[in-house]
This record gives sequence, C-alpha cells and structure tokens, in this order.
Amino acid sequence: MLFERPEAGDQAVLLQIELKNQTNPDQAEFAELARSAQIDVVETVLAKREAPHPNAFIGSGKVEEVAAVLKRRGANLLLVSHELSSGQQRNLERALNCRVITRTELILTIFADRARSHEGQLQVELAQLKHAQTRLVRGWTHLDRQKGGIGLRGAGEKQIELDQRMLGERIKMVEKKLATVSKRRGQNRRGRHRRGTPTVALVGYTNAGKSTLFNKLTDADVYAEDQLFATLDPTLRRVAVPGLNDVVLGDTVGFVSQLPHALVEAFKATLEEVIHADLLLHVVDSADEQWMERVAQVRDVLHEIGAQDIPEILVLNKADLLPRDYRFDASMASTENTCSVFGVSAVTGQGVDTLIDGMGIALGVAAPHEVILDPGDGRTRAWLYRSGAVLAESMTEDGAVQLTLQADDQLLAQLESSAAVVLRGSDTLPKISVQ
Ligand code: GTP
Repeated sequence: MLFERPEAGDQAVLLQIELKNQTNPDQAEFAELARSAQIDVVETVLAKREAPHPNAFIGSGKVEEVAAVLKRRGANLLLVSHELSSGQQRNLERALNCRVITRTELILTIFADRARSHEGQLQVELAQLKHAQTRLVRGWTHLDRQKGGIGLRGAGEKQIELDQRMLGERIKMVEKKLATVSKRRGQNRRGRHRRGTPTVALVGYTNAGKSTLFNKLTDADVYAEDQLFATLDPTLRRVAVPGLNDVVLGDTVGFVSQLPHALVEAFKATLEEVIHADLLLHVVDSADEQWMERVAQVRDVLHEIGAQDIPEILVLNKADLLPRDYRFDASMASTENTCSVFGVSAVTGQGVDTLIDGMGIALGVAAPHEVILDPGDGRTRAWLYRSGAVLAESMTEDGAVQLTLQADDQLLAQLESSAAVVLRGSDTLPKISVQ
C-alpha cells in the first residue's frame, strides 16, 4: 500500500531509546549530530524498553506521549536514536502525522551535506540508494542528488515511484561511475607518490574544526593555479610547509561513534586519502569535556580502516575557548604514533604557524644546512625561496650566495644533484657531502 509521508521540518523532538542490556547510541552525540544537520532539537523524550515493540518500536503509551510533546512544542520532525524497520517507521509517521528520521538517516543527511568530492558524493548516493532498497514505500524513495539526501530534505516530496529493478539498475550505474572515479583518484595519488609529494590528512570527530583548520592552513596558498593542484579534488589542497616542495592536505568527513553498519563503506570511501597519508592531523575540540573519549573513538575508526600506524600530530583546536592559564595533560591522549601535540585556534589563527613547522619536522625537514650557490644561479635561489626552505642568506667573501636551509631529504637530494650547487655543513650543522 502506498503512503504519503508527512513533510519534514527543522524543529525536532529527539526520541532517545534505551534498550536494556545493550549499548545504546550516545544521547549527547545524537543531539550534536542533529545540530550538525542544522536541526533544532526542542525537547528530548526518553523511552526505556526491554525490547523493541514490533509495531512502532516504542509502546502505544509512549507514542501518545511523543505526540503530545510534538504538538506542545510545534515540532515537525521526530529523530529516533535506533534503527526502525520500514513498517515501524511508517506506523510511527502515521500515528504522529510527522516525519520520522532514524540515526542512520540523520548521518546520511550529514554525509550528503558534507561530501564535497565527486567520489564522496557518489558514495553517499550509493548508501542512499541501498537504504532506499530497504524502504521501498512511496515517498520513501527519491533519487535526486539534492542537498540533504534521503528522508529529510530534498526531492523526497516529489513522490517518485520506483521499483526494485530500477533501483538495482541505478545502483549498478553509480557503482560503475565510482569504479572510474576511484581509479582516477588512485592514479593521481600514485602520481603524487612518484613525485615524492607528502600527503597530510585531517581527521577528527565531527565538529572538531577540521574544515575551519583546512581553510586556515591552505588560504595562504599562492600557487593555487599550480597544475598539480588545479586538477585535484576540492577536498585536497596545497599547504605551504617551509622546507618542503609540496604538501597536499586532505580534509575528511567527521567521525562519529557507532557508525551505522550500512554507512561504514560510504564513510571509508571518504577516507581513501587517509589510508595513504604520510601524516595525520588529528583535530580535537579541546573545549569539549569529552575530548579524550572522542580521540579514542576516532582512533578506533582509524584502526578499523588500517590507518593506525600512520604518524599523527594531535591538534588541540579551539584553544581560544579555553581559559588563558589552562594547562593540558595531553600525554594521556598520546600514543607511540603521536609525533607532537599543538594547541591552536583555527578561528583566530593562534598556534597555526607553529603547527605548520611541526608538520615539516614530522615530514622529515631536518636541522639547518648551508648551501653556497653560484652567483649566477638565480633559478635555484628562487626555487629554494619558493619552497620556503631558506632560513637566512648572506654573501661569501668571493661574492657567492650562502643560504641556510631547512629542508627534507628529498629537497636536499634534489639540490645535491644540481651541479652548480655546493652544499656544506658547518661544524654544528649536519654535513652533506657532495661528490
Ligand atoms: P564536520 O564536518 O562535522 O566533521 O566538522 P569539522 O570538524 O569540519 O568542523 P568545522 O570546521 O565545521 O567547525 C565546527 C564548528 O566549530 C564551526 O562552528 C566552527 O566555526 C567552530 N570552530 C572551528 N574551529 C574553531 C576554533 O578554533 N575556535 C572556535 N571558537 N570555534 C571553532
């Protein structure tokens, strides 16, 4: 039987269900996720149950209570902390005359909002399509790739009726497109690897400030027209790290705990770059009282995708929100992979330069070296300045240019192979012999 779904709004009541003897989704996180999706949670209703009720997950008394709260608060959306069967969801919507969204659908909405790369968008579409297969009721399926995705915003209201066959075809088509996009992305990545371009990936719990920091770290990028970067994914940008030729910084979608099983694949795909990164910037909202738990949750996911051994810099973000004399004990959150810990504010920019230097050190920028350039070699001099490697410049007695450099092995090796250059270490500086 076909069923027209009630319209969704952005004033929501949150139904937090606690099942006995089970790990239930975290209530505070659920509310936080709702906020991330720009939904106002006006009230929370708690429901404790031994087991789900087959009809509507919660009992009829609780349904009435929820209906009363929705009415009293003028809310037009119910967020449910647990997964509902298609029937339970429909029954609830009917009884309440209000759109009902599960945690999975809420996260899908956030992913759809955030997926910026072509691949990420396709992965989210695929997850939506697969979800739609389990919800084949008129009004439950819409396939427009509109912002907001399934269940909440977008074209769901257009009542497109699709059968399983059409859905299956669409899924195949998206999978095919995905295969092409992943292949291209893999080629780009291998290309960067061949050129020795390090990749740094931002990871962190949802709302930690990754995107804000991504913009802060990359907005000074004056080489945006650079061929290498112009063709890249929008979630990858160049960041200038003194002493390194090129560093690619990748932003990722926020991590959430207890990621619904159906979304794990879509989520992993958005983390492709993470798995191949040389360094992780693990961004933490240090003003969040539960930041240590969040760090542990992100590390669990990193473990799950096989990225647990990648060196990590712990970035304690939102330092501007903390009292001036606040002292962290970050040692408890550090692991053997943690190279360093920095307190920063992605909003005010405080600590960001120190963080960039820290990235350089973690990526192998060594102690200073001296280099003497032929007076006529303006090209090498300009290149060294461009890569941010020059710490100081002076003139030798015989009129040659002497530079003090901070650079990684790759840049130094490039320099060594240049015949016109004489590289020298001083007594206090590491020496490089030039054959
Ligand atoms: P997801 O996309 O959900 O993973 O979030 P994200 O980690 O990319 O966080 P985002 O950059 O979107 O920032 C989340 C909120 O925190 C925004 O409202 C930012 O303005 C705010 N924010 C980020 N960094 C800082 C900071 O250093 N200080 C303060 N006060 N707010 C910050």
